[in-house]
Amino acid sequence: MDPKNENEKYRKTPQYALYQRENFWRSNNGEVVPFNTDPGKLEALAKERLTQNGWYYASSNAGLSYTHTANRQAFYRHRIIPRMLVDTNKRDTGTEIFGHKVSAPIGFAPVGINKIYHPDGELPVARAAKDLNLPYCLSTAGSQPIEDVAEANGAGPRFFQLYMPHDDELTVSLLTRAHRTGFTACILTVDTWQLGWRHDDVSTSNYAFYHGIGADLGLSDTVFQKRLREAGVDPKTQPNEAGAMWIDNVWHGRAHTWEKMPWLIQTWKEISGGKPICLKGIQAVSDAEKAVQLGFDGIVVSNHAGRQVDGAVASLDALEKIVDAVGKKTYIMFDSGVRGASDVVKALALGAKFVFVGRLWIWGLSIMGYHGVRHVMQALLADLDILMNVGGITDLRQLDRTVLESYPKGYPLLPEKSKL
Ligand code: GLV
Repeated sequence: MDPKNENEKYRKTPQYALYQRENFWRSNNGEVVPFNTDPGKLEALAKERLTQNGWYYASSNAGLSYTHTANRQAFYRHRIIPRMLVDTNKRDTGTEIFGHKVSAPIGFAPVGINKIYHPDGELPVARAAKDLNLPYCLSTAGSQPIEDVAEANGAGPRFFQLYMPHDDELTVSLLTRAHRTGFTACILTVDTWQLGWRHDDVSTSNYAFYHGIGADLGLSDTVFQKRLREAGVDPKTQPNEAGAMWIDNVWHGRAHTWEKMPWLIQTWKEISGGKPICLKGIQAVSDAEKAVQLGFDGIVVSNHAGRQVDGAVASLDALEKIVDAVGKKTYIMFDSGVRGASDVVKALALGAKFVFVGRLWIWGLSIMGYHGVRHVMQALLADLDILMNVGGITDLRQLDRTVLESYPKGYPLLPEKSKL
């Protein structure tokens, strides 16, 4: 690829496609490409590098992994129809989300306890997100203090994913910390009052927080510190008890209901001065409609990557119906099962405005920390930019269903490799 090609004149984002050239050239400089970004090979390498606990937690799904499989199968149902002789020299991957101009409609999905994948946990991830100008979403189950993640993320756009405690003072404290440190949207996850039944994790007692690992976000909270004192738990001498007390406030197993939602919307709006608040984990059209009626600013159509309800519908199939019902009334984001640029394009063509990815960067983090996350996400951006170029797409915001040929539902089991 000619690095002086005219595309650079027309775009506000870097020419991510050039990452291909950079890697093709590397061996001339005596360098090697960090690792293969084929999702199957990436996952296998992450497995090699991780501890058993890290690997189980990264790879676990609810029950029999049927939802995980369905998520992947649904992408195969849609095929992109490439268009030729389009002036893709004028293409740009950039878009906007919640007032932020970002490199692409791709964000870092909230993923908890990154310390089990890398000793620095969320920090290298937040830094890579900033460096690529992609939004970073911090999980309440994150294993670093909110303030430290914000610092690592610097000027990058960032959102705070809330697992809502039943302790309102604690919720307010978490949201206030997030707002004060520059998180510009709140995304409440509604599909995880507790973790789904994940065989490997349960059979190995693999719950880091109960073993003194990963509770830093909570332990650094003044309201939670007060709760620890009230309970007579000292996190220094009782790390397992303190970690358990934190996570039992977060994944408490006690459902919230729609009745609580106006309180949360109002609370976040007051704290943040009116910043967006969204729901994540929506799969039913009726839930999407309720979210719109209640005044949420957006929804993330997600089934938690198949980690919560086993045997559920594919998130991509849910997306189509939800877009038909409320696509014109709210901002729809998508996650669950995205493994490459073509998946991003399919979700956008079906009506999502933004797509989040999780496992890809977790694998990158597990393999090579900051450089691993960056390599994986930069490769995804390059893949997207190149797909636009060779497939005749100039503006991702213009994508609609005419770019897809979609086959009826009817899912055979996929070959092992394709399940990734
Ligand atoms: C938490 O969000 C998980 O899926 O483990």
